Amino acid sequence: MLIDGFGRKHDYLRVSVTERCNFRCHYCMPEKPFSWVPRENLLSYEDLFKFIKVSIDEGIKKVRITGGEPLLRDNLDYFIKLISDYKSDIDLALTTNGFLLPQMAQKLKNAGLKRINISLDTLNQERAKQIAQKDVLDTVLEGIRKAKEVGLKIKINCVPLKGINDIDILEVLEFCKKEGFPVRYIEFMENSFAKNSAKGLTSNEILEIISKKYPNFVKVLRDTTSPAQYYALEDGYEFGIIEPHKDDFCSSCNRIRLTAEGFLIPCLYFEDAMSIKEAIRANDIDKATEVLKLVLKNKPEKNRWSNASDNKVSGRAFYQTGG
Ligand code: 5AD
Ligand code: SF4
Repeated sequence: MLIDGFGRKHDYLRVSVTERCNFRCHYCMPEKPFSWVPRENLLSYEDLFKFIKVSIDEGIKKVRITGGEPLLRDNLDYFIKLISDYKSDIDLALTTNGFLLPQMAQKLKNAGLKRINISLDTLNQERAKQIAQKDVLDTVLEGIRKAKEVGLKIKINCVPLKGINDIDILEVLEFCKKEGFPVRYIEFMENSFAKNSAKGLTSNEILEIISKKYPNFVKVLRDTTSPAQYYALEDGYEFGIIEPHKDDFCSSCNRIRLTAEGFLIPCLYFEDAMSIKEAIRANDIDKATEVLKLVLKNKPEKNRWSNASDNKVSGRAFYQTGG
């Protein structure tokens, strides 16, 4: 079992397969052009899988594939099948912007993928274009439809930004309620790569908007490691809010992140990371296991967004860690 220095059990691994993305979302990517990590610096699927096996053998029960945009990496279904064939009862999930789902959803399902989180910040074409800096909405909606049709379990992620899609919060909720998808609103996490003007809504501001139409929602009390606080409307539909700025957000953290370059990251807002690349490329499984345990041992108790005296801007790029 994987336990960190604060006694938190870790059973959830997030693996970023690429930092590249076909969107340029305000909250994630720099505006000015920048260069990607050269492909030869990335771990191959086989090498990433070697580490996933180590992690599963050490107690990881849930693996989520992230990016950048993970569907940009060729043959992702092959990678998913490697994991699914190794342990068919693993909770195997993917986070995507949805743009390539129309052609990929069926392949992903066939390869053994179970669940999928898709970003949907607005149902307004212009504002979707403004956020992603590309005309994406119709294709994303088609991707969501396809994922549903092939039987993937869907959750929607929405990051409300002040003055941009704060007016879309209710419409996204209505859409998800109608389709039967839980939506999670994520508080914008300040990071040095996001557009300077990006400002997020707090959970209270989001709840206030929802309460205008649904005044009688109630907090759902659940004993889980989910970072989201869930709320139920009167008809039973549940939505969540992810509040990284809250003090108790980290107390049940069970996750660790691996980047496509082989860095193990214990926390989204903590500068430390260690590489497993050399160990994995040399097939040194003992060394990779040792690094995994060391990273957990040094994992901080709390992220720094929740610490009042910190500057509250993470230097970590979300497009490298997959959020
Ligand atoms: N703050 C909050 N959420 C973010 N995401 C990406 N960048 C940020 C940020 N700065 C979300 C995306 C996607 C998920 C992977 O993380 O909307 O749904
Ligand atoms: Fe791409 Fe996701 Fe970042 Fe948007 S948030 S630019 S879709 S990696």
